[in-house]
Amino acid sequence: MIKNKKIPSNDMETMIPLLIGVWRRFHKLSGPPDVLQTREFREVVSAIKALQKGLETGDELIKQDYFQDPVLLGAYILYFWILHYQQGVALINELPIRPRRVLDIASGPGPFSFAALHQGASDVVAVDRNKAALQMAGEICGRYGYPLSTRHGNVLKFPLPVEGQFDLIVVGYCLQELFPDTAKEWRPAQRQWVDALMKQLTPNGMILFVDSSLAQANHRLLSLRDQLVAEGIPVQAPCVWKGECPALKQKQLCYAQRELDKPALVKQLQRAAEINLSSLKMSYLIVRNPESGWPVLPNHPLYRVISPPVDSFGGKRFHLCGTDGKKDLGSHLPETPKDARSFDYLKRGELISIDDALVKGSHFDIVLGTKIKIEAALSKPLPEQE
Ligand SMILES: C[S@@+](CC[C@H](N)C(=O)[O-])C[C@H]1O[C@@H](n2cnc3c(N)ncnc32)[C@H](O)[C@@H]1O
Repeated sequence: MIKNKKIPSNDMETMIPLLIGVWRRFHKLSGPPDVLQTREFREVVSAIKALQKGLETGDELIKQDYFQDPVLLGAYILYFWILHYQQGVALINELPIRPRRVLDIASGPGPFSFAALHQGASDVVAVDRNKAALQMAGEICGRYGYPLSTRHGNVLKFPLPVEGQFDLIVVGYCLQELFPDTAKEWRPAQRQWVDALMKQLTPNGMILFVDSSLAQANHRLLSLRDQLVAEGIPVQAPCVWKGECPALKQKQLCYAQRELDKPALVKQLQRAAEINLSSLKMSYLIVRNPESGWPVLPNHPLYRVISPPVDSFGGKRFHLCGTDGKKDLGSHLPETPKDARSFDYLKRGELISIDDALVKGSHFDIVLGTKIKIEAALSKPLPEQE
C-alpha cells in the first residue's frame, strides 16, 4: 500500500514538442518544432472531427483499421493521446500498489503505456493490430527515454502474444470496437474475454477499463461493472457500493472528472474543432484479481462524490454513492461549520466520510457540529486497512 502517493507532473512542456516532432517525422514534414502551420493545423482539426464522429458520437470507423490512415493516426497523437495519457496518469495513481508489469490492450499509439511508464512501471507491453500505431507508441516512449515492448496481434485471440502475469492490464477506449453492441451475443463474448484477461493478472493485479463519458460507453462500463460485481469480482475504484449500480438502474450516467492540463495546442485544436471540454471526463472501472477480495475499508461509511455541485432549492447539493448506497449532501446554513468546511470545495470523485449530519432518508444535511472528512482526495488510493 503506498501512502501519500504524489501524482507526477504530466510534463506537457516536454510532451507537446515531442509529439509534434513525432508527427512531423511520421509525415516526413519539416517545420517548427512546437507549432503546426496553418495548412497542417486545418488537416489535424478535420481528422480530429472525423475520429470523434467515427469512434465516439457515431460508429463509422468502428469496424475498420482506421489507423491505416496516416492522417487519422497523426491527428490522434496530437489530441486524443494527450487526454488519454493524462487520464492514465490520474487513474493509475489511484491504485494501492505501483504496478511494475503492465499490459496495454489495444494500445494504439500508447497513451496508457506511456502513463504507466510515467507512473514508474518498468516493464510495459503494448498490443495492437495496427503496426504503425505500435511503432508510434515505441517512438513516443523512446524519445522520452522510456522502454516499451510492442506486440502486433489481435487482442480477441488467446493466447495473447505476451508471456507471464501483469500487475495491471489497461483496456482503454476499445470495448465498443472489440465487441460492437450491434453484434449478436456481444455481452457474453465480452464477459468471457474479460475472464481470459483476468487469468493474466498477478495475485494482486488489477484491470483498468477506461472509456468515454458519453452515454453508450458509460452504460457499457456500468453494466459490465454490475455483471462482474454480481459474480463476486471485487472493485477497487470508483465504486465503494457493492450492490447494483443505482445510476444504471435509473438510466443515468456516472462518470469521472479530473483536472485537464490544457496546453496551448489542445486549446487551439478544441476551439477549431468546436469541442467544449474544460476537464477530463471519462468512464472508468478498476477491478481486482478475484483472489484478492474487496478492499478492506475503515469501519465507517464512505461516500464517493459522483456529481458536480447541483443547484437545488435551499442551496447546492452533491450526489454521493457510498458503502451504504446512494445519498445526497447539502447545507441550509448560511456559513459552513468549520469541521464541514471541505463541503465548500468538494470535487466530483473525492471519497468522504460524514459525521453528525441531519439525516432525512437518503439526504444528509449539514448542521452545526457536522464533520466532513476527505478520506481519499482525487486520484488517490482508497484508505484501505493494512
Ligand atoms: C480508439 S483506439 C484506443 C487506443 C488507446 N488504447 C487509447 O486509449 O488511446 C482503439 C485501438 O484498438 C485497436 N484494435 C481494435 N480492434 C483490435 C483487435 N481486434 N486487436 C488489436 N487491436 C485492436 C485499434 O487498432 C486501435 O489502436
